[in-house]
Amino acid sequence: MSKINDLNLNNWKEYEDIFTDSLWIIGARDKSGAHTGEYHGNFIPQIPNQLMRRFTKKGDVVLDAFLGGGTTLIECRRLGRHGIGIELIPKIAKAAKNNIAKQKFLNGKIQVSIIVGDSTKKKTRDLTIQMLKNYGKKDVQLIIMHPPYHDIIKFSNNSDDLCNAKTLEDFLKKFGDVVNNFTDLLEKNHYLAIVIGDKYTNSEWVPLAFYTMQETMKNPDLRLKSILVKNIVGNRAKRNQEHLWRYRALAGGFYIFRHEYILVFQKS
Ligand SMILES: C[S@@+](CC[C@H](N)C(=O)[O-])C[C@H]1O[C@@H](n2cnc3c(N)ncnc32)[C@H](O)[C@@H]1O
Repeated sequence: MSKINDLNLNNWKEYEDIFTDSLWIIGARDKSGAHTGEYHGNFIPQIPNQLMRRFTKKGDVVLDAFLGGGTTLIECRRLGRHGIGIELIPKIAKAAKNNIAKQKFLNGKIQVSIIVGDSTKKKTRDLTIQMLKNYGKKDVQLIIMHPPYHDIIKFSNNSDDLCNAKTLEDFLKKFGDVVNNFTDLLEKNHYLAIVIGDKYTNSEWVPLAFYTMQETMKNPDLRLKSILVKNIVGNRAKRNQEHLWRYRALAGGFYIFRHEYILVFQKS
């Protein structure tokens, strides 16, 4: 099997900062470079950073099917990976573009591009293939997906936005369409990572991450490699209300979300 990263395993003890455990306890958000943390609903840059260093080499292509504020493409510029980000909402894509442009190339000049489109649609896949051709590439080496956690943050009013899926079944169907739309473009033996959390509806814990995992496992070309649990710090909606939430949890017999998941699949 060909090597999928730039790690030199003869010096494996030097990579102390690369996670190999399934529990990811991360302290403060990385706010260096162009990472501002301003986009509501973004993931912390340490997530794409860890995934890219373990599962890609310099010059490889990373595809993010739910770009949002552009965290993944900023990391691409820092780590020297080509990047393609897909974002449905033009306004969000424009803001991401401006932000990404502020990031210096720290590891050679690579190309990063944004496609404004719906990741569930074949047309968006065709545009991605065209973009790969422009890069002189035929496939991607890592796919990152950080979809809306169904309806817990309203990113837009667009009916194609996964946050506006009418039911859980509809959300899962659309998410499955995104997985199937892009898995063909992933090079064999390479990785697809889904970042997702659970939610509460009508006082009931909805294991959205597990449902999403199950949906992804329907794709015969993907095999589950790891379920990672990552801590959540400083949830914006709950900031400054820690005591109130603790009281509510004690009174209501529930636990406050302090973790989300990174589901790691490999294309077989
Ligand atoms: C959780 S956010 C991603 C945040 C991103 N990881 C970051 O760090 O900024 C999800 C994004 O997916 C976008 N989105 C929702 N439905 C989509 C679809 N069908 N196709 C493409 N993007 C979509 C939303 O507009 C939102 O910006």
